[in-house]
Amino acid sequence: MKESLKKLMKVMKKSLKNLIDFNFKSIKMKKVKLENKGAEQVELKGLILGAGKGTRMNSEIPKVIHRVNGVPMIKKILNVLGEVGVLENILILGHKKEEVLKELGNVEFVVQEEQLGTGHAVMMAKEKFQNYSGDIMVLCGDTPLLKPETLKNLYLTHKKTGSVTTILTSIYENPFGYGRIVKELDKIKGIVEEKEANEEIKKIKEVNAGVYCFNSKELFKALEKVKSDNLKGECYLTDVIGIQVEEGKEVATYCLDDNMEILGVNSKVELSIAEKVLRERKNLELMEEGVILIDSNTVYIEEQVKIGRDTIIYPNTIIQGKTEIGENCKILGNTRIIDCIIGDGVEIESSVLEESIIEKNCTIGPFAHLRPLAHLKEKVHIGNFVEVKKSILETGVKVGHLTYLGDATIGEHTNIGAGTITCNYDGVNKYKTTIGKKVFIGSDTMLVAPVFIGDNAVTGAGSVITKDVPKNSLGVERNKQIIKIDWRKK
Ligand code: UD1
Ligand code: CA
Repeated sequence: MKESLKKLMKVMKKSLKNLIDFNFKSIKMKKVKLENKGAEQVELKGLILGAGKGTRMNSEIPKVIHRVNGVPMIKKILNVLGEVGVLENILILGHKKEEVLKELGNVEFVVQEEQLGTGHAVMMAKEKFQNYSGDIMVLCGDTPLLKPETLKNLYLTHKKTGSVTTILTSIYENPFGYGRIVKELDKIKGIVEEKEANEEIKKIKEVNAGVYCFNSKELFKALEKVKSDNLKGECYLTDVIGIQVEEGKEVATYCLDDNMEILGVNSKVELSIAEKVLRERKNLELMEEGVILIDSNTVYIEEQVKIGRDTIIYPNTIIQGKTEIGENCKILGNTRIIDCIIGDGVEIESSVLEESIIEKNCTIGPFAHLRPLAHLKEKVHIGNFVEVKKSILETGVKVGHLTYLGDATIGEHTNIGAGTITCNYDGVNKYKTTIGKKVFIGSDTMLVAPVFIGDNAVTGAGSVITKDVPKNSLGVERNKQIIKIDWRKK
């Protein structure tokens, strides 16, 4: 039995995937690819630092996999790099690397066993770049608000100025915590970390975003010379700048107007700021694509979610994971949808939907719960207090009230009466219920699985159905009613 259930799951998962692949027009990713102007080859690889513990997060979870609007921070950075066309990336991982890798899947990485600073972290990748003389864009795993345009502009500045290193910077009124960009006559002299800064330097408002374009050969040459003779006893990547300037090398900065974009997430407070920014960006993007958000302050729509035009999202709604919603739907308040595929014209009110497929023009809720692998075909109605798990409901099925359907298939236009339960579990194994087309299941029917109800059959209200009911038949299991006249008077 277990095997066959597994098979069913596989089939349903496949059908979920097929729907994702074929039924929905994917909304195009806005790409700002790096252009290859002139004859020059675009030679750029990414290096992302994510080995640190993130002590200031005060968390058991490694910092770089904390989620912002549904996506682990470090994954978000990989996505942005992907959007500008930087597809070869190396990650530096260390602290709880297994947990980080679980979130990332197949990535190229180098281990930094002991976290001795950002410079030491980059050094770990030296061998990987041995035969490479192009540029490396180094980013920290904790800056999830960077936009693709910014990375592109940083790279273009790097190329235009012909620098060995170009640093992304921005201006903060309160620059506390960031490395300061020390300049003389507009030329960068070096970067000084907050901890190492004197009062004068602390007043500098231009800060290091932690994103750089380096010529790879020059980077590793300078890194060899970086010492750890600072207050933290760490090898700072930022010290490379001072060394290169001293040696007369060309170092440039690219200063970004929007300082919010470079926010480094070091604490839970900053995490919540980043979350808010990304959520607002997502909502804006959806509205531009034609989605109606009644109150964009109270809807939480994660990064990967796709929603079609003229769908209305009411307040207090959470839409998560890889959910795709069609056009002209109505998602009313207090609904949570996770990893679902929803067709056009569906209405959902105050319900929870997980890993399910809901085809065109279904109506769901209020107070319904679709658990994983529920598949509702067109025009299905699921009403109050109905739970559906791993079941297929064919076109036009109605399940109005107080029902549990698990491991069931239900044929077209069948009506399931209030209080029906598929008794699918005997404490050890799960069993299937199969119901045909145009069946009328009377209220409060217990369908003890495995059981089969043929097309056009009827079950009597209150029946415990343990035997198959052939098509066009009535199945009823009920004691004769007893009437005792004037019983109350005795
Ligand atoms: C760093 C910069 C600072 C900049 C800020 C921007 C240095 C020395 N400082 O400071 O100038 O203003 O980012 O946000 O580079 N990491 C490792 N291995 C280590 C240490 C850190 O992989 O040994 C990783 C962390 O996981 C993190 C990133 O490097 O993703 C940055 O480390 P973090 O400690 O957050 O640096 P900041 O103090 O914020
Ligand atoms: Ca940081």
